[in-house]
Amino acid sequence: MDQRFDTDKYESGYIPFYVEWVRPPRRILEVGVRKGGSLLLWCALWPSVESVVGIDIDELPVLPDPRITMFRADQGDTLALHRIATETGPFDLIIDDASHIGELSWHTFEALWPHVASGGVYVVEDWGTGYRADWPDGASYSPQPPPGHTAGMAAMIKRLVDEVEDGNVDRLDIIRGMAFVHKSA
Ligand SMILES: C[S@@+](CC[C@H](N)C(=O)[O-])C[C@H]1O[C@@H](n2cnc3c(N)ncnc32)[C@H](O)[C@@H]1O
Repeated sequence: MDQRFDTDKYESGYIPFYVEWVRPPRRILEVGVRKGGSLLLWCALWPSVESVVGIDIDELPVLPDPRITMFRADQGDTLALHRIATETGPFDLIIDDASHIGELSWHTFEALWPHVASGGVYVVEDWGTGYRADWPDGASYSPQPPPGHTAGMAAMIKRLVDEVEDGNVDRLDIIRGMAFVHKSA
């Protein structure tokens, strides 16, 4: 893929992990759109893509690909997320690249996880904000006994571990900045 789109996923080094850990999806939902570069990237990356849904709290961009649909909503509005996903899902891939606030991301996961199709993947990006003292709910790391974090994105990621034990999540792959939450086929 030689075309570059306006998304920071290149600089973050995330794209190879999507290629490795996500089977070519047909339907995608991304929360957090900005200029829409990542939505265009998904369409170019996987020829399998039939539809891409974007959700953002801010003004939505106008994008040239007819496979892309966008909705304006706050990721904390779980009823809106559920309504949009019911109308447009289920999805083979859902990405949370929005506020990176732990509580909001957790509620988003709770609202959207049921809309991940069997064998699908839910990706949480940039969870390292949970370690940033300058982030609204970031907490500087303290080498104390676990859980270490009870708030912020780091706590949100640790909460996903509970979902593995509960049997709601089939597999969890965590790397720096990204978590891949897999649903059983
Ligand atoms: C990091 S940017 C998304 C970048 C985009 N995914 C890309 O790769 O080009 C984060 C986006 O999340 C949106 N956002 C922030 N808080 C939000 C919220 N509470 N609900 C929905 N979207 C939110 C912002 O408006 C912004 O467009």
